[in-house]
Amino acid sequence: MSGFGNEFATEAIAGTLPEGQNSPQRAPHGLYAEQLSGTAFTAPRKENRRSWLYRIRPAAMHGTFAQYHQPRLHNDFGDGPVSPDQLRWDPLPLPETAVDFVDGLYTMAGNGSAAGQHGCGIHLYAANRSMQWRYFYDADGELLIVPQQGRLLLATELGAIEVEPQEMAVIPRGIRFRVELLDGASRGYVCENFGALLRLPDLGPIGSNGLANPRDFLTPHASYEDIEGEFELIAKFQGHLWRAEIGHSPLDVVGWHGNYAPYKFDMRRFNTIGSISFDHPDPSIFTVLTSPSDTPGTANIDFVIFPPRWLVAQHTFRPPWFHRNVASEFMGLVHGAYDAKADGFAPGGASLHNCMTGHGPDAQTFEKASHADLSQAHVIVDTLAFMFETRAVIRPTAQAFDAPHRQRDYQACWAGLRKHFDPNSRD
Ligand SMILES: [Fe+2]
Repeated sequence: MSGFGNEFATEAIAGTLPEGQNSPQRAPHGLYAEQLSGTAFTAPRKENRRSWLYRIRPAAMHGTFAQYHQPRLHNDFGDGPVSPDQLRWDPLPLPETAVDFVDGLYTMAGNGSAAGQHGCGIHLYAANRSMQWRYFYDADGELLIVPQQGRLLLATELGAIEVEPQEMAVIPRGIRFRVELLDGASRGYVCENFGALLRLPDLGPIGSNGLANPRDFLTPHASYEDIEGEFELIAKFQGHLWRAEIGHSPLDVVGWHGNYAPYKFDMRRFNTIGSISFDHPDPSIFTVLTSPSDTPGTANIDFVIFPPRWLVAQHTFRPPWFHRNVASEFMGLVHGAYDAKADGFAPGGASLHNCMTGHGPDAQTFEKASHADLSQAHVIVDTLAFMFETRAVIRPTAQAFDAPHRQRDYQACWAGLRKHFDPNSRD
């Protein structure tokens, strides 16, 4: 089913959805009716998200939660000093013992809090086995998942989504799911959004088409598991994980309707727009999804991508310029090379440039681009970088700051920028 934020209706068995009302005295097929709300009941209609689930057992049925020890995943971003340095990391190493998606989550950075319902957690995952007899949900935020290595099968309450590198998926807050690794060892990025739900950006003068088109967002058909056994339900709640026993699969929704549902998007379908004369538009032109804040035009989170595209601007330094922003930028690379860096930024790696920290092309890229032949169009192929950009400073966790795979010499990439200034020459 396609479309962003649409009202969907889907059933794995015909006749599951009640006609004309949501909660009849007895739901069809002996199912339980349950509403799942992703926004306040009274949120404006255009922002209101909720779905009705018709399921074998209600979500209330599970054992008592106890804290689950997974110290690499948390939302403890601290309130002490935070370095304004430019930071960069090599790829998160793949595990050497058996690790699934939940145990493979590793918190890199974040801001705000689940309690305050603003900000985000930024995580990587590195896993080598599928989740077995365990299910997960995140009550703290929706999960924007960007696979970098290996396809994932996201088996959710509302149906299954298969997602591969160069695609992304969003699992809404609270939806229970299991992750199967379809290609063995897998790695990727996760933005955990504590704030307003991600949505498509307004297009302004661009018009009614362009960037990510609504019809390219895919939502699963209903499918269900009717199995019983000794399973685990893992919850992320207020920054930490909890575990309860559950005697059945919670993926037992036979039919559902509504507009609160997981979705995926193939980033190769992003309609990239840029300058066809001179200069750069701001990178906001590459926004796929945005989580607005209470301040108009100032996002809690923007998810921005740098896909293959033509560079045709004349009289222009074509790679991204040097800049400092009030916003803070966490970047990742799905594959290929990013056009502002000659080396050091590897697929699966990450960089962090915080509020007002200067950054931009490295010395090698600057020299090359300053002398490039601008009479020719240049096509950038076979690459996909992305950015989680936030209004608040992104605070690296202690484990990420101290990690052996952080590049202590990152700033050296700008050390070779030579002084060219000559007051007597305009060249
Ligand atoms: Fe930047």
